Amino acid sequence: MSQTDIDQLQADLLAAIAGAPGLEGLEQCRVHALGKQGVVTGLLKTLGGMSPDERQLQGPRIQALRTAVTEAIGDRKAMMERAGLDARLATETLDMSLPAGGMSGGSVHPVSQVMDELAEIFADLGFAVATGPEIEDDWHNFTALNIPDAHPARAMHDTFYFEAQAKTAGDGQNPSSDSAGLAGGAGRAKRMLLRTHTSPVQIRTMVTTPPPIRIIAPGRTYRSDSDATHTPMFHQVEGLVIDKGITLGHLKWTLETFVKAFFERDDIVLRQRPSYFPFTEPSVEIDVGYTLIKGKRVIGGTAPDGWMEILGSGMVHPKVIAACGLDPEVWQGFAFGCGIDRLAMLKYGIDDLRAFFDGDLRWLRHYGFAALDIPTLSGGIGA
Ligand code: PHE
Repeated sequence: MSQTDIDQLQADLLAAIAGAPGLEGLEQCRVHALGKQGVVTGLLKTLGGMSPDERQLQGPRIQALRTAVTEAIGDRKAMMERAGLDARLATETLDMSLPAGGMSGGSVHPVSQVMDELAEIFADLGFAVATGPEIEDDWHNFTALNIPDAHPARAMHDTFYFEAQAKTAGDGQNPSSDSAGLAGGAGRAKRMLLRTHTSPVQIRTMVTTPPPIRIIAPGRTYRSDSDATHTPMFHQVEGLVIDKGITLGHLKWTLETFVKAFFERDDIVLRQRPSYFPFTEPSVEIDVGYTLIKGKRVIGGTAPDGWMEILGSGMVHPKVIAACGLDPEVWQGFAFGCGIDRLAMLKYGIDDLRAFFDGDLRWLRHYGFAALDIPTLSGGIGA
């Protein structure tokens, strides 16, 4: 084929591409030129039967034709698509000021609601909200809390550990060598885990904040445990007070005030029982009295029918205070930890814990709270 013929063919093809009425027409042009039976494809096939000299002459011509046609199709296609989008944008309108009619199904999860209530109640008592990472290291989750390696209390927390990383592999094989003692700073083991309680936030707060300290720390916690009353992920709230001259009396008053505000009734009786946590001494388990109403346990009543355990607490162990770099002769305090999911179940009469995390919209509609109903002490905490 002469150069003139090729030029003519190229001009024809480009004219057809430029005149293609729409994406479909353009596709027809592509098949006509570049498809399996296409004219340009046909020309390319003739190269195989040519003498080397002729191929050297025709090859570049035909390739140039193919490139020109391919590019023209690509350009025209992009142009058509852009024009299509412009046309849509020109006709479609979205009125951002319209009320979200069909979207009214959203609600606040009971756990979020209870967290807001806790923050509201404790803010009134002068507590700030603190947070910490859910992926913790061994030192903050255990060692600094007076649970050294090989301490039997570790077995009480069915811990999810991360695999030791290459540079800290020694931790996994010989953990005791890297987490010797409670002295903060040096020698902190870097074996990572999912925090088994919110107590590491106590440590993080004491290490970074000079006392006096008054915080609560609500958040997610994890244990390898799963049945009707346990889920591998659950929520706790931690409380911590560090100051001078703090006693068990302060702990008792604070918890009583909190439980009364939370359950929104004054006839609450608390019972303190001796208990054991490595990070508090003495340790106190707190039970709340319930009254049986038609066979259902309802929190409250001055002459309770029975007791329900609601939280663990105690005076912060001097070793824990020292591990955070504070002098236990000067600073004392109390701490408590409590399951938020359980609080929500008790307050709002929800009896299946697992349903909390199913994401079932019907459940959320039933138990959820209106997004704009923000808990306030004056308006009612669980409005
Ligand atoms: N961290 C404890 C637990 O998860 C609860 C607790 C917190 C007890 C603070 C005492 C003081 O079981």
